[in-house]
Amino acid sequence: MIPRQQASPRGRRVLLGISGGIAAYKSAELVRLLVRAGAQVQVVMTDAATRFVAPLTFQALSGRPVRLGLFEAADEAAMGHIDLARWADAILIAPASADFLARLRAGLADDLLSTLCLAADAPVIVAPAMNQAMWRAAATQDNLRVLRERGVRVWGPAEGVQACGESGPGRMLEPEEILRALNGALDVAGDARQAPLAGVDVLLTAGPTWEAIDPVRFIGNRSSGKMGFALARAARAAGARVLLVSGPVTLETPPGVERISVESAREMHRSVMRHAPGCDIFIGAAAVADFRPAQVASEKLKKGDSGSMELALVRNPDVLASVAALPEPPFTVGFAAETQDLRANALEKLRRKGVDIILANQVGGEEGGFDRDHNAVILLTADEERSFALQEKGRLARAIIAALAERYRARRTT
Ligand code: CTP
Repeated sequence: MIPRQQASPRGRRVLLGISGGIAAYKSAELVRLLVRAGAQVQVVMTDAATRFVAPLTFQALSGRPVRLGLFEAADEAAMGHIDLARWADAILIAPASADFLARLRAGLADDLLSTLCLAADAPVIVAPAMNQAMWRAAATQDNLRVLRERGVRVWGPAEGVQACGESGPGRMLEPEEILRALNGALDVAGDARQAPLAGVDVLLTAGPTWEAIDPVRFIGNRSSGKMGFALARAARAAGARVLLVSGPVTLETPPGVERISVESAREMHRSVMRHAPGCDIFIGAAAVADFRPAQVASEKLKKGDSGSMELALVRNPDVLASVAALPEPPFTVGFAAETQDLRANALEKLRRKGVDIILANQVGGEEGGFDRDHNAVILLTADEERSFALQEKGRLARAIIAALAERYRARRTT
């Protein structure tokens, strides 16, 4: 076997953001290491960062003028901030101060660095550095949770004695450690850039549907939408244009993904049928309610004296089957969530709904499924079976999208 070539930042474009913190002095060494490894480094400093280290230091080490402001006419004329955001293969913010993390989470765009993060398609990586109490603060941890959910990578911090004399978590990783991690990240970004779904339109459904009983009650299910959202994110990372039709969930829309929010199965059906003609791949990851109340009460139902209640239900349209039945259907992928006879039930669904691929997952047992962070699926076609082991839904989604892309391309060439 030929050993895989060691990843290196040679020729790669790294936008190094420096925010205000004493660890900014370590960033000088980081720039030196990156340049020595062959990377093109563009340093962007926040105003606070310039109080710690002079921009001239970074200019000398990177060989490029440091970008400082959003409104520098000469800089903007040379390469505007949107072009600069597109230029980067990766945006690395080291050190990332508590203030900068809060600004990133809020989506502010009132200085150059935060604007670049908002405009970029490239992976955004933060190497936090701050006092240990600031790191532990609920606000900082909450910001990090949201940023991670949006796909921002958080490297470090390390523990130890801090510049302020205290000890604990909050030290920025050493430049050598950041460089090593960056090698790996650029490698992954490189794989994504091969973009197996470049130019492909992907339409997805995700989440549950809510079927109204009266103005305050509904029939719903346990779907969290995590699998569908992870697939949307992975399809986008693979270069697709992604439209996500989602039922009620509490998840953030993945960057670069267009989202339409719906509530009921009929709304989802309407929205999907409007957009399905012309799309290339359809993935039905939503847990669509099969039935809805025959009547929706216009006022809140009162329980009165009765000890029981009957609710008449009628069938909802099947979104997946409707897409598969289009005169020129997209490459259509459905899920089968089963509590028993997984393969047999899933294969029956594949045939009955007329889809190209079914992703079958066991629900209700120990293995993954609804409202969990992990899942395991079996990919089934009319003549193929492939298992994906229990793993984190983000990772699983990337593996599934890679497999779908292969089969989609194979079908297109035959
Ligand atoms: N699905 C859909 N519209 C529906 C019901 C299901 O688009 N009204 C899709 C789901 O998104 C999923 C697949 O069909 O991709 C399988 O859904 P599932 O509920 O597992 O199967 P059902 O067809 O509802 O069959 P059963 O309830 O008998 O298991």
